[in-house]
Amino acid sequence: MFVASDPDLIKFGVTAKVLAVLDGAAIEYSVFSEIKPNPTIENVQAGVAAFKASGADCIVAIGGGSSMDTAKAIGIIIANPEFADVRSLEGVAPTKNKCVPIIAVPTTAGTAAEVTINYVITDVEKNRKMVCVDVHDIPVVAVVDPDMMATMPKGLTAATGMDALTHAIEGYITGGAWALSDMFHIEAIRIIARSLRGAVAGTDEGREGMALGQYVAGMGFSNVGLGIVHSMAHPLGALYDTPHGVANAIILPTVMEYNAPATGEKYKHIAEAMGVEGTDKMTVEEYRAAAVAAVKQLSLDVGIPADLKDIVKPEDVPFLAQSAYDDACRPGNPRETSVEEIAELYRKLL
Ligand SMILES: NC(=O)c1ccc[n+]([C@@H]2O[C@H](COP(=O)([O-])OP(=O)(O)OC[C@H]3O[C@@H](n4cnc5c(N)ncnc54)[C@H](O)[C@@H]3O)[C@@H](O)[C@H]2O)c1
Ligand SMILES: [Fe+2]
Repeated sequence: MFVASDPDLIKFGVTAKVLAVLDGAAIEYSVFSEIKPNPTIENVQAGVAAFKASGADCIVAIGGGSSMDTAKAIGIIIANPEFADVRSLEGVAPTKNKCVPIIAVPTTAGTAAEVTINYVITDVEKNRKMVCVDVHDIPVVAVVDPDMMATMPKGLTAATGMDALTHAIEGYITGGAWALSDMFHIEAIRIIARSLRGAVAGTDEGREGMALGQYVAGMGFSNVGLGIVHSMAHPLGALYDTPHGVANAIILPTVMEYNAPATGEKYKHIAEAMGVEGTDKMTVEEYRAAAVAAVKQLSLDVGIPADLKDIVKPEDVPFLAQSAYDDACRPGNPRETSVEEIAELYRKLL
């Protein structure tokens, strides 16, 4: 087996929890841990070389979105070597073969990469995070165990949890949403809204809720896509190495306000799922405002910054806006948008 993980997870003994199980079963493995948060093309290519050298025929991905996404890219390239440049995998790649079988063990409660058709790799040269969408990359087994997430510090729990909430909300209002995906997303919002504060405080109930909630959100958005919160978060990861969940959490309320006119009654259901009472007596404007306020309050309660002032340099806004517009998640946004409107949304947060 080929184990894909990252240096901090090795250092803090998180990877070791799974390696002990492999040792106990006398399963041979080699460990590849040169994976950084917001993983790069170089990480993937080093992993492909290490996989070939290992002689393995299966991957165990232990980590957050970064380890699982890198494992997916490695597995796809091993099975489809014509995509070894990695860049040609951006968007929907016409791969022919299923990825090397992956057993995914998430250690964060956020990305749901263990169940989605997506992976995200950074092109350092072009300052670009590439969203790759491919039905061939879904792991064959997902082991979603809150014990693997117990060592997450508060800030990481909060950021990854807000990533999961963003998946649920963007997936709920995206253009392709329908009855089945709505079912997953509204339930995910409900579970996350009641669990995230507890998870950040370190309660077992909160951690269990977040492990489940992020997974349920993944079952939804993997089938319908996301929107421009993700499109605007990706360039921040590429340019400033901003943690994905932090970027999403800061951007989410502002984009929710912008998208509101294109969402019909959906914010009423989001507000209800977030725990807002009395939505039946509210006007459209009131329940839309209530949904945004509930998201802002949760973000504040778990310690997410309110704006991008400490992250974004104003002179970078035109590049960021163009990059967000070109992102694979943008066409899923419920409201038609433009480079200029996206630039305005970034500026609102400065
Ligand atoms: N595939 C998808 O569908 C999808 C969806 C959303 C985001 N992403 C991508 O996933 C990446 C982000 O992944 P992430 O937010 O899970 O974080 P991550 O994998 O980047 O990890 C961030 C840091 O947290 C540490 N960490 C992880 N688990 C820990 C634990 N249990 N205890 C202590 N430390 C721990 C890691 O060592 C790392 O240093 C981004 O590149 C993002 O674009 C992918
Ligand atoms: Fe995400």
